[in-house]
Order: sequence, then C-alpha cells, then structure tokens
Amino acid sequence: MSTIRFDAAMSRRVESAYTTPDVVEQRRVVVGALSLQPGERVLDIGSGPGFLACEMASAVGASGSVTGIDPSEHMLALAGERQAPAHVTFRPGNASDLPFADAEFDVVTSTQVYEYVADMPRALAEAHRVLRPGGRALIATWAPIDRRPMMKVGFDSLAEALPQLSPPAKGDLQQPEQCEREMTQGGFRDVAAQAFTASMHVASAEHYLRVLERAGGPIVVLKEKLGPEAWAQARVRILAAVSRRIPEGGADLAAEALLTVGVR
Ligand SMILES: C[S@@+](CC[C@H](N)C(=O)[O-])C[C@H]1O[C@@H](n2cnc3c(N)ncnc32)[C@H](O)[C@@H]1O
Repeated sequence: MSTIRFDAAMSRRVESAYTTPDVVEQRRVVVGALSLQPGERVLDIGSGPGFLACEMASAVGASGSVTGIDPSEHMLALAGERQAPAHVTFRPGNASDLPFADAEFDVVTSTQVYEYVADMPRALAEAHRVLRPGGRALIATWAPIDRRPMMKVGFDSLAEALPQLSPPAKGDLQQPEQCEREMTQGGFRDVAAQAFTASMHVASAEHYLRVLERAGGPIVVLKEKLGPEAWAQARVRILAAVSRRIPEGGADLAAEALLTVGVR
C-alpha cells in the first residue's frame, strides 16, 4: 500500500497531474467501458478532484446521479470547484466503510484509489455491498512502474541524480491476475482485467521536467523540501539525467493502467 497523504498541496498536484493527456484519455476509456445509461445512480469512490464524476454525470443525465466520496477534505474542496451539475454530489467517506445502504447504486467506479486503501479486501466487499444485484463495478489501478515510462523516466532520473533518496513504494493491484483474484474474492462475478495504455508527448527533457515540477509527486515534494537554492542545483543534475532518457526531438511516454470490471 502507498502511504501518500492527500493534504492541500498533494491534492493540488493530483488535480494538475490528472489533466495531462494520458489521464484524460484514461477517463474517456473508463466512461466508455461503463456504458452508462440515463437515470443510473453512480458512486465514485475516492473521487479526488472530481473530473471523472463530472464526466460520468453527462452520461447518466439529470435523471441519474453521481456521488463522489473522498476522505480528504482538501480533495473535496477541489471537487467543489468543478461547477458540477446539480445531480453530482461530493461528500466525505472512506472506501472501507461506505456511508450507504446495501444496493443503493447501479454502478461503482474507483480510479487510482485502492493503491492507498489500508484494508483492500474490505473495501472491495463494501463496493460490492452498495451495488444492486446486476450492478457494475470498474476499478482502475496503475501497472508496474516498468510499464509506465511517463513516470519511470522521472523516478530513474531522480535515482541517478540523487542516489541517496529512497525508491518509491510499490503499489497494490498491479497485475491483472491479482486484480481479478481480489475482485472475485470481494464477491464480484464475470470479473475481467485488461491493460490500457495512453501516452503523452514531451517535446524535450526540459518540457518533461517542467511537467514533473508541476504535477509529479516525488519531484514536487523534493523541490519543496530543498528550497529554491538547493533545488536549483539539484535541478541541473536531474535535467542532465532526464536528457539521457529523452531523445532530441522529444518522445511519446506511455502510462499503462489496469481496468478491472465485475458484476454484482
Ligand atoms: C490519486 S487520487 C485519484 C482521484 C480520482 N479517483 C481520480 O482518478 O481522479 C487518490 C484519491 O484516493 C483518495 N483516497 C485515499 N484513501 C482513500 C480511502 N481509504 N477511501 C477513499 N478514498 C481514498 C484520496 O484522498 C485521493 O483523492
């Protein structure tokens, strides 16, 4: 399990990171895979900055509803800035103890959240409980770092430039077999996991590093920790390391996610 704290600064970073083209494309695929129908009631667990909830709201229309829950008050505040339509609601809640009655929803989604949940089997059982019989669930998680050059270039460059830093924690639900096993054990049927890859074009090493400074968790944390002067020195070394990984003329950097669907 990853132990990131979604405080005000980290919440802003996620909001920024989740507007990059690869994540925008992932949301489009998630909404398509759900085949949402007008009038359906959707729960988005760990709704974060609220982008997915708002996109699903268009698909279910005003006769349906989308409820986003998140334990982070900072994320809820960002979601509140989305100018969501009236049939979208954001409220506090935890995946492990969903504040809803049994069978309240037609669809449950959760994207890049179960990596952070302490008791994942319990959280999956909760997602199953609040779905009506026949209701659909879709869980999205990140693939292992080796299949995400979009992030790996940054991690490897950091490790090369500043070898004293500890490596990032490995997340859960990174293999299709594990996703399918956990969801089946959570009570879902017709479970299937598939890999989905989206890419972002970076024009140069400098461009990539600027994206990371705006949105890449470990780099932003490091930059804040070092302060302006030490960061300026570290940045030169990191940029040199990134330059060894991004060719002249730029590169398309992929990020693979796993989308696991199941039915109650
Ligand atoms: C990487 S963000 C993803 C946000 C959103 N699902 C998206 O795809 O845009 C992870 C989110 O999971 C939330 N989260 C962390 N632990 C959680 C838990 N136990 N239950 C529900 N949400 C949780 C965080 O507050 C954060 O908003």
